[in-house]
Amino acid sequence: MKEKLTHPVFKIIGQCADEMGVDAYVIGGWVRDLILHRPCKDIDIVAIGSGIELAERVAKELGGKYHVAVYKNFGTAQIAYEDYDIEFVGARKESYRSESRKPIVEDGTLEDDQNRRDFTINAMAICLNKNRYGELLDPFNGYKDMEEQLIRTPLSPDVTYSDDPLRMMRAIRFATQLDYIIEETSLQSITNNKDRIKIISKERIADELNKIILAKKPSVGFKLLFDTGLLHLIFPQMVLLHGVEIIKGKGHKDNFYHTLEVLDNICKTTDDLWLRWAAILHDIAKPQTKRFEPDHGWTFHGHEDKGSRMVPKIFAELKLPLNEKMKYVQKLVLLHLRPIVLAKSEVTDSAIRRLLFEAGDDIDDLMKLCEADITSKNEYKVQKYLKNFELVRQKLKEVEEKDNIRNWQPPVTGEDIMKTFNIPASREVGIIKNAIREAILDGEIPNEYEKAFEFMINKGKELGLVK
Ligand code: CTP
Repeated sequence: MKEKLTHPVFKIIGQCADEMGVDAYVIGGWVRDLILHRPCKDIDIVAIGSGIELAERVAKELGGKYHVAVYKNFGTAQIAYEDYDIEFVGARKESYRSESRKPIVEDGTLEDDQNRRDFTINAMAICLNKNRYGELLDPFNGYKDMEEQLIRTPLSPDVTYSDDPLRMMRAIRFATQLDYIIEETSLQSITNNKDRIKIISKERIADELNKIILAKKPSVGFKLLFDTGLLHLIFPQMVLLHGVEIIKGKGHKDNFYHTLEVLDNICKTTDDLWLRWAAILHDIAKPQTKRFEPDHGWTFHGHEDKGSRMVPKIFAELKLPLNEKMKYVQKLVLLHLRPIVLAKSEVTDSAIRRLLFEAGDDIDDLMKLCEADITSKNEYKVQKYLKNFELVRQKLKEVEEKDNIRNWQPPVTGEDIMKTFNIPASREVGIIKNAIREAILDGEIPNEYEKAFEFMINKGKELGLVK
């Protein structure tokens, strides 16, 4: 490992530790990511002694211009160095709890510290002292587990998971991010202990869930969450999508696996968390809107509208932000069928204009979502849909170039209406404004001030506003 520990800061930490007569190690995620060749900005240092004193000494050695943030209660200290975040802690015996409010009571050895970590791949340490610089301390064969692509706990899984039940989510998150397998007893233990997730804050759960969603193939994580029963506890609305009902020999598709396919598809075209969330939620109201109609088979009328109205509650429950990100997801869920309808029928300019008006700048994301939504196994159908979407895209471009309708506001404003007819803000103003917008979107009048003004006068006459 020696040749890999190239950053000069490690030598400095080792030198300070030598001077203080303590052992110091870089440990955890940073070591794992070093072996994975993944860049990592969080460096965790364990001292067999006082982490705070080591941090203060290192800061001095670095020239005194770095601030040491000391958290006495936790026995930790932090230095923001270049773009690294270096955290120092004394080795401890008791359970590893990053957010515990309890003061650290008992000092321990390196082994004690390693014992209390979540996974073997996260429990490796590299010595920084001069005479053992670069030595890998890997008592649980984390290195081998990395070669075998295995998530395993250092102690019995029941102990490790009950120390901190968030680790059940972390196991699934690492398995998803790294494409590793969770060792069988560990997976069984997650299933057995799943209810303990209830003691973990929703924010921390959401954090892990979002990391799963940001992985290359999030379906891996969602299937594990489902199979272990965790998903039922953290996100029950999604579980309702699971399953197929059959009436008179007619079944519908399993919307859980369909949703996961759509999610994996969209991940090929975007890194954006919220577009990924839109994929997760696009069919969320299908269970609530499901009907069997003898003449048509299964229908899910209005699921886009109901789904969009479910978004705020789901976001609130999951402690996701209730801001414009949520509104964006709502909008995409609401509009997710529109391009499909367009692709199926004759594409008129006015339909395109309407879609552009409603989607605004999110139109490209909406098109991505719709394309990801094609999960038919019939290659002929897939090709046909994709070709139709291509046509819709083409039309969108043409109409946008011609009419400039994205983020568009009608040329005649409410103010204009009030002034012209000398009326206060009233129902009539709304009626006229709406009528102008509709007329332009429908292509009845061009998107120009003069024509819109003329239209406004006529509308005012109809309403008896002009004597
Ligand atoms: N750790 C743990 N149990 C937890 C959280 C963290 O044992 N519930 C330990 C692990 O050894 C982990 C280290 O603390 O490697 C650092 O944790 P953290 O910074 O949260 O995560 P990383 O493993 O570095 O991974 P990532 O940055 O991807 O979250």
